[in-house]
This record gives sequence, C-alpha cells and structure tokens, in this order.
Amino acid sequence: MEFDLKARFSFSGEISSKKDEINKFLSHISDQFLKNDENNSSTIEILKLEKSLLIFNIKSEGVFRPHSVILQIKNYFSKEFGSKYHIGIREIIVESYQISFELEKEILKKFSIPFADLDFQGKQVKINLKDLDEEFLKRNYIDRMINRVKEKVEDQYYEGKGEFWKLIWKSDEKTPVWEKDPTVEMVRLEWLKQGPTKGKWFFRPQAAAIMEAMEKIAIKEILQPLGFQEVIESHIVPFDIWLKTGHLEGMPGEFYYVSEPATRDVEKWERFVDLTKITKTVPFDELKENLSIPSAGICYAQCPMIYWSFKGKTIAEESLPILIYDKTAISNRYESGGRHGIERVDEFHRIEPVYIGTKEQLLKLREKMLERYKHVFNNIFDLEWRMAWVTPWYMQQAGKTHDESTQETGTIDFEAYMPYRGNRADSEWLEFQNLSILGEKYIKVFTIKAQKSDLWSGCSGIGLERWTTAFLAQKGLDPDKWPDGFKKYLGNLPEGIRFL
Ligand code: SER
Ligand code: ZN
Repeated sequence: MEFDLKARFSFSGEISSKKDEINKFLSHISDQFLKNDENNSSTIEILKLEKSLLIFNIKSEGVFRPHSVILQIKNYFSKEFGSKYHIGIREIIVESYQISFELEKEILKKFSIPFADLDFQGKQVKINLKDLDEEFLKRNYIDRMINRVKEKVEDQYYEGKGEFWKLIWKSDEKTPVWEKDPTVEMVRLEWLKQGPTKGKWFFRPQAAAIMEAMEKIAIKEILQPLGFQEVIESHIVPFDIWLKTGHLEGMPGEFYYVSEPATRDVEKWERFVDLTKITKTVPFDELKENLSIPSAGICYAQCPMIYWSFKGKTIAEESLPILIYDKTAISNRYESGGRHGIERVDEFHRIEPVYIGTKEQLLKLREKMLERYKHVFNNIFDLEWRMAWVTPWYMQQAGKTHDESTQETGTIDFEAYMPYRGNRADSEWLEFQNLSILGEKYIKVFTIKAQKSDLWSGCSGIGLERWTTAFLAQKGLDPDKWPDGFKKYLGNLPEGIRFL
C-alpha cells in the first residue's frame, strides 16, 4: 500500500524559528515508527513552516499507515513544545490523503464510498480524502473505508455466484396426498384471509388451529424433552442491538422501522386530530411533524434480543448450557417480489430456541436436536424432506453471501418437497426451518462470559407458517388423510365461520 498524507498543524504560538528542531523531531518520530518495519520506505518532509503553521507530508509504502500515527505525532508535539515553550496545538487537519493499493481483482463496475473519491485503474485503486479533522481521524474511519472498498469489489464477484448448498441427509420419497397450493385452497375455503397489508395473513379458526398444533408439537416434542425454558422478549429492537449483530448494515432495506411519537403533548397533536376529523383521511404531512425518526425496528429474528439480555453477564457453570426459547415475538421482514402465500410473508410466527454453552455441549446438543427434529418430521408429519449445509444465516443477514458452513459452526437448512411446485428434481423445495451454531460471534459482541468455560452459541428457527405449509402441501387439508402422529395433536378442525 502507498500512503501520501499532507497534514496542517496550527500551533498556539510562533514556531517558524524552530525549523531545525522540528526537522529533528520529525525524523526522530519517523525512526521510531519505522524501526520495526524493514520493508518500509517512508519520508516525512516539511512543506511549509510559517509563523504558527506547520505543513508536512508523510509518504510511505508498506505497512506503516500515516493515518494511524498522525494523532501520536500531535501528542508528541504537544508534550515536547508544551513543556519547553508553552506552545500548544490548536488544530490539526489532514489537507489531503491518498491511499493507493492493488486489488485482488479488477472491479467489474465503478462504485463510490462516503467521505472519499475513488480512482480505479486496472487493479489499482486510489482513495482520495480531503480536509479531515481530528474527530474523523480518531474514529478509525479510514481503515474501515479501505476494508469497505475491498469488500465491495469482492461482492461484485460473488453477486452472480450460485448459493452454497451441500446435502447432509434426505428422507425417502413420500407419495403426496395432493398437488395443490395449500394457501390458495385455504383462502378458497375461507380458512385464511390475505391480511390488510402486504405479506400479512389473517388466520381464521381452522388455519389458526393448525398453526397452534404446530406450536404445541414444537414445544412438546422438541423443546421440552430437551430441557428448553421459555422466555418472553420485546418485539421492538433498538438499533444498537442490530449494530452489534450486523443486521443494520446487512438488511437495512428489510426492516419494518418503528417511530416513537415526538411528543404526547395533546396540544401538539391538536391539528392532526382536527385534520383527521375534518378530512377523514390521514394527514401524513402533519403526522411527520409529530414523529421521531426511527430508532428501532420490529423483530427480524428473535435471537439478537436474547443475546442482548445476556449482555455483560457472567453465567454460572451450573447453568450451562443455557437452553431457552421465545415464541412470542413476531418477525417482520419487508419482502420485495418474493411474497407467496403463507410461506413467504412479511410477518411470521416463529419459535426461536437459543443455546449458549461450551463447544462440546453445543455440538452434542445439535445431535440431540437433530434427533428430535427428525422424529417430528418423520414420525409426526411423515414428510419428504432433506437437510443441507447452507451459507450461515448470520452471514446472509450481515449482507454477505460468500461463506461456507463448516461442520462445527454454520447453518443447516431443513427443506421440504412442495408437490404443487413441480417435480422433485427441478422445483424449489421450501426451507421450513434452520439450525445453526455460530461459535463465539455473538458471545463476543455482547461480552457474555462463563465462570471458567469458553462459550459458543447458536439458534434454530422454527417457522410456524413454514411448518404448516410444508405439511399441508404434502398432506392436504383433509384431516382424515393426515398421518396418525399429527392427528393426535389435531384430529378435528374447528367448525369455523360460514359466510353467505
Ligand atoms: N436467527 C435465525 C434466522 O434468522 C433463526 O431464526 O434464521
Ligand atoms: Zn437466531
């Protein structure tokens, strides 16, 4: 990497008479920084020394990064000149800064990043920055900008690449009871109604009973036998949680954002009320005045809030592994074109078990969970389904597509054959559940500790709409044709409501 930085230091007093001293001082500094770096060729040169102003240039090649020492240079100066001459530093500005380096691959398309201009030439990229103040330098933006440039180029190459998918296990083929789309049929029968807004559903008694049975099965057949305890979390996730998990940078276009009222003051809302009463429409312009900018979003997945609940805690060894689940927070994701039936929705009901323990505990737990899941999908649902390693959800949800699961950490997807979509080989199977071990990722960002052990964590998403539609797509809507195992949980559907 090549760096070329021009800095302007304004002192509180006259320094131009101290040229020799400053020169000596700068060369001393550069010796100090460079002594451990043999490959470096770097120079510090005074460009201007006038009254209280010092402008100098640092050029460097190699690992020495001028932006990470400029604040130290300031501190050295302040100390030295402060004690000797009682001269302080009023302001430092990086007037210009160029960072040039070679990319691994040539860009496919030009792009930009905030705070800088980028020049591309073949594999070479130059980041041009101007007028950076001390705050900017302190905040460590520059290293992150360099990383962001590299990441954006990498992403260009991964965009077109097929998704990572590796089969682990598959069930026998099962003869489906029918080949219809369960959502369409349930809507026809008035068991289900499309919700008032995009991707939402209203479950009438029959469909609600099926969802309820799914929840019971998950709890009774999987979570309780394994010793999971229930927690109840908030649906509203403040941004600082998503900043930590990476969701905020990963899926900003998929959240349902939450605004608080700017005030409860009745007087401030008076005009809004008047306009509503008079116009019988929503006075959006007036509303805007009374809302705060969102600082939170509706639950996207339940685990981030669960990790937050352990933030900074030290867990007693006897409580490990922690096995908990939430079934109350409803997840909302703003889908674009992909909405379909109750299987691809903006709002869904899910049970999310989260586990925190040692690596050994979690690897063992995964085997036990897989056993219980297999029991449900084979013996209770009698499903045709399979399991595959996929790109871990935490990579996807952090906006990254190019990672592969390992056998230890990573995500397993559970997929069901959906007869209405076509034949087994060519049609897309439905991902109706997942299970992940994430290593220490969230343990670290939320500083969760144990007395002695190193902790790992993981989670599993049990989507009730997905379970329901996978089951119904293969087994149909006639309870008489449902497998006996399922009939034990739901043998008869509620009567529902007859419409005229
Ligand atoms: N947190 C996981 C996911 O979002 C499991 O629900 O897929
Ligand atoms: Zn999760």
